[in-house]
Amino acid sequence: MLVKKLKETYETLDGQVVSLQGWVRTNRNSKAVGFIALNDGTCFSNIQVVYAEELDNYQDITKITLGSAIDVEGKVVLTPEGQQPFEIQATKVEVLGMSEHDYPLQKKRMSFEKMREIPHVRPRANTYYAMFRLRSVLSMAIHTFFQERGFVYIHTPEITGNDAEGAGECFTVTTRKDDKYEKDFFGKHAQLTVSGQLHVEPFALTYRNVYTFGPTFRAENSNTTRHASEFWMIEPELAFADLSDNMDCIEEMIKFCINYCLEHANEEMAFFEKMIDKDCINRVKAVAASNFKRMTYTEAIAELEKAKGQFENNEIFWGMDLQSEHERYICEKVVNGPVFLTDYPKDIKAFYMRINDDNKTVAACDLLVPYVGELVGGSQREERYDVLVNHMKEINVPQEPLQWYLDLRRFGGCKHSGFGLGFDRMLMYLSGVQNIRDVQPYPRTPRNLVF
Ligand code: 4AD
Ligand code: MG
Repeated sequence: MLVKKLKETYETLDGQVVSLQGWVRTNRNSKAVGFIALNDGTCFSNIQVVYAEELDNYQDITKITLGSAIDVEGKVVLTPEGQQPFEIQATKVEVLGMSEHDYPLQKKRMSFEKMREIPHVRPRANTYYAMFRLRSVLSMAIHTFFQERGFVYIHTPEITGNDAEGAGECFTVTTRKDDKYEKDFFGKHAQLTVSGQLHVEPFALTYRNVYTFGPTFRAENSNTTRHASEFWMIEPELAFADLSDNMDCIEEMIKFCINYCLEHANEEMAFFEKMIDKDCINRVKAVAASNFKRMTYTEAIAELEKAKGQFENNEIFWGMDLQSEHERYICEKVVNGPVFLTDYPKDIKAFYMRINDDNKTVAACDLLVPYVGELVGGSQREERYDVLVNHMKEINVPQEPLQWYLDLRRFGGCKHSGFGLGFDRMLMYLSGVQNIRDVQPYPRTPRNLVF
């Protein structure tokens, strides 16, 4: 029987014998009786297995080590006065796989840093155990949100001939030892994708509302707590939508995901609240009930100028790329909650963003949130062929490899917008876990690739 099922139905099972499999989280005993906290992976909390010296192999059971896989048969006994509502009184305990003496997760708490060296074992430690289920639940939240609204899920490619953002921070995909890409597997330079956006846009001009959800790769050498070299991104694209519609969609999605996770990962969220960030549930509940503020980049610069002197980089000027200390100041000190910054200078944003009437700014929106910083980046796309071509020329984005993208503006083009949500950052935001390396099963960051 699965422990999850047992927890849902124990009241009807009083006195009945059940069979369980799982792993030992703790095993303690006195002379005559012992207690195993058993976890079978199907729900966050353990259940208590009580074993008594009447069992033939009592001595052997007392020696079962942490992490061992066991098979238990026992009677369900309701314990209304106890800490848990029921326990299992074992009639049989058998070891399926003993955990050896060098099993790393002993009673002593280990640092996050040490845990990162053992990605094959750390999912069984509570923080990770909670996190990786939350990851799964949040994935479902995303799909549920978009599917319920009729968005079509598009699988954009991982291998691409484009550097989508023109930023040149790509990993090359090659089977060669030299860089003769014309003789390479694809007969040209191929890369891992940094974003599915350009490839998803044709589908928005087909199905109206679409999204991608998959891994993306960036070879930027930024060793921060918020950057990973491989991370997951959700990239919706909405036809006939302007920047304001785009922000409405982002806001609705974030709120939906919060409520979905509070409902479907309630034990996990309660754990994070207790052990990681005592404010996390209140914080996200407040966000789900709030209206996200909207502020232009120009207004943000004015706020930063007022606070000049408080930053590491105090050279504040219109046109600067905001650093994370500036972004955090805006959402943590000025707004104290999520805020959309909009209408950035065109020179610090990607080539495809729609140029505003002032000819200086683009219809971009970044969603900044306390503690995490940039959670979402999006924009209305430039749908005017000539304007886009001129902008690309101005900032030296070669036209020929992107002619297919430009053609979309000639074949029934229309107003459209989209955004990218950093999935891993959303997990950090929900849980209060502060390092992106602790929300990913196998984090990849500069000079770090365990297995
Ligand atoms: O702002 P970015 O670079 O936007 C795009 O890639 C657009 N093509 C999205 C779109 O309009 N379709 O990335 C989007 C989000 C960021 O806001 C951030 O949350 C996350 O992706 N992100 C990262 N997360 C983890 N590690 C990194 N190295 C990240 N880089 C971006
Ligand atoms: Mg961005």
